Amino acid sequence: MNNFSYHNPTRILFGDGQIAAIAAEIPELARIMLVYGGGSIKRNHVYEQIQETLGERIVSEFSGIEANPEYSTLCKAVTQVKADKIDFLLAAGGGSVIDGTKFIAAAAQFNGEPWDILLQGGRNVTSALPFGCILTLPATGSEMNAGSVVNRSEMKAKMSFGSEHCFPQFSVLDPTTTLTLPERQLTNGIVDPFVHVIEQYLTYPVGADLQDRLAEAVLQSIVETGPKALADPQNYELRANLMWCATMALNGLLRNGVPQDWSTHMIGHELTALYGLDHAQTLAVVLPANLRVRKDAKREKLLQFGERLWGVTETSHPGSADERIEAIIVKTEEFFIAMGAPTRLADYGLDESAVDAVIKQLEQHNMVALGEKKDVTLDVSRQILMAAL
Ligand code: NZQ
Ligand code: ZN
Repeated sequence: MNNFSYHNPTRILFGDGQIAAIAAEIPELARIMLVYGGGSIKRNHVYEQIQETLGERIVSEFSGIEANPEYSTLCKAVTQVKADKIDFLLAAGGGSVIDGTKFIAAAAQFNGEPWDILLQGGRNVTSALPFGCILTLPATGSEMNAGSVVNRSEMKAKMSFGSEHCFPQFSVLDPTTTLTLPERQLTNGIVDPFVHVIEQYLTYPVGADLQDRLAEAVLQSIVETGPKALADPQNYELRANLMWCATMALNGLLRNGVPQDWSTHMIGHELTALYGLDHAQTLAVVLPANLRVRKDAKREKLLQFGERLWGVTETSHPGSADERIEAIIVKTEEFFIAMGAPTRLADYGLDESAVDAVIKQLEQHNMVALGEKKDVTLDVSRQILMAAL
């Protein structure tokens, strides 16, 4: 097992009715700005509950954070933070609102051009405003981690940053807030956490047995619960389990002491920046192709994953290891498709011209040595995209 340092300061307030608990989590004299997106929180009573709980303690509101939060919108929020002398942010929404809030929190205290935060991946962030979250779309894990992804349309750039100053102070995970999600977002909330686990698990063995078992437990829960939640969308228990899976998939626990990949995410971000695919859709396309192209480097973990998650063994699938690996990848694809996320670029109306465009973007963003061994060069990324056509 590799060395690691692990600290996660985010308090989780889990369950029905927990929005009421935030009043005690925010300093009494704080000047609060409520940050949200296009209005879903007004349709599922989240906004109402926040007003009931905090009332006039909210000094300011900033709405209109887009899915794939826009840099220019977030900069407007920073101006409002400064004008209203805000010292606490409350994010209510999905990963985009929470990521956006992290950026606002850091940029509000940053000297210089905020874009530099993204160019440096957050290494230059030395402080940030405190903030809390009310999560309404479980998928990204942003509610319990310190990472954020920001989109800048005019540059076709989707860039991420992370900083230990950007952990939420608390996050409310009330599964009832997710009952209004359209099916497409429920699909995203199954596929994205699944791939988060894979990025931290499906690399090469380092003897981190507990992390492997934890990762497999999250994968197994997602595979068992996802189809049931799609078939029974108003079931609280199923939503509760999916919600906690999504948080556990990316709160730092699974990556302790193990190599990490993240190449599927980096290639996927370019597809969103160029063509507007949902984040999780990009992952459903890139992951199977990525596993096919890099199956030799990932052989041991692929076979372990296939045996423990999909029950693919020498007995169930006699033949060569390569044949078993192909069966494992096909099972993974079938799962994404059954969850409502097609796995080919063509399914989203994209052809070979997208391959060149994405490679150009990766080059521009210096994504030229990705993966757990930094061997996913532009040439390998091209092979992956070609395999995803
Ligand atoms: O804007 P509103 O009106 O709130 O509507 C949103 C949005 O249109 C809607 N929605 C959210 N909760 C709802 C709801 N609709 C009905 N009922 C509810 N309860 O859903 C739409 C999509 O929301 P968004 O926040 O964009 O989705 P998601 O949570 O999937 O976040 C995606 C973003 O997170 C980034 C992605 O790149 C993408 O930009 N990621 C962040 C990560 C992190 N911080 O750790 C890791 C991830 O890998 C990912 O890259
Ligand atoms: Zn993701």
